[in-house]
Amino acid sequence: MQKTKMLYEGKAKIVYETEDPQVLIVHFKDDATAGNGAKKGTIQGKGIMNNKMSEFFFKLLKSHDIETHYIDTLNEREMAVKTLRMVALEVIIRNVAAGSLAKRLGLPEGTPLSTPVLEYCYKNDELGDPMVNRYHIMALDLARVSELDDIESISFKVNHILTDFLRSKNVNLIDFKLEFGRDEHDKIILGDEISPDNCRFWDMTTNEKLDKDRFRRDLGGVEEAYQEILRRVTA
Ligand code: TMP
Repeated sequence: MQKTKMLYEGKAKIVYETEDPQVLIVHFKDDATAGNGAKKGTIQGKGIMNNKMSEFFFKLLKSHDIETHYIDTLNEREMAVKTLRMVALEVIIRNVAAGSLAKRLGLPEGTPLSTPVLEYCYKNDELGDPMVNRYHIMALDLARVSELDDIESISFKVNHILTDFLRSKNVNLIDFKLEFGRDEHDKIILGDEISPDNCRFWDMTTNEKLDKDRFRRDLGGVEEAYQEILRRVTA
């Protein structure tokens, strides 16, 4: 599998085209940003850890019949994935109030939610990824209703699988963000990554944060938290 051309460089990943138009290569970087790029830094070894964790979770989801873009791991920082035409949405699932939801609704962080909450954000850096609902999404032609139905059904299944799995590792899955795309048959497929960059993982006993909030909030022990969650997940 050879890279032919850089397609896109994001905050945490670089995507390359290959000689096969149906296959891309994702390269995981150590760069970290927060607050829509306001805070920048490096988390030593993050790219390697996120590549490993995403591989692990994509394989776990496959074993539960959830299709993802993952094809193969090429080296410690790179995976081959299916080419998708991405839906310009971030899909956030929350089990416990934290982050922006805690702020918006005036809930103390750590308040369990009676039912999981799904939120959409429009992926647009200039606008700061504003939250949108199904009507905004249809009005902007970002996705069709049947596609949103698929996205929601897959997202809640992923939540169920990851929550159950992580509970067995004494980890509480507080919330996470997913991204989806369409394959060559217009089927909705899970893409992006599943890592401490886009999930909140709390130790079930101590509520210690084992995710990117340690970087976002200057809590220290960032690399150690990434190492610990990877160790627990893959143990
Ligand atoms: P939030 O509480 O800041 O809205 O974040 C909710 C979850 O989504 C959290 O696990 C972090 C993740 N997330 C991303 O991965 N990328 C983003 O741009 C945002 C806003 C959140």
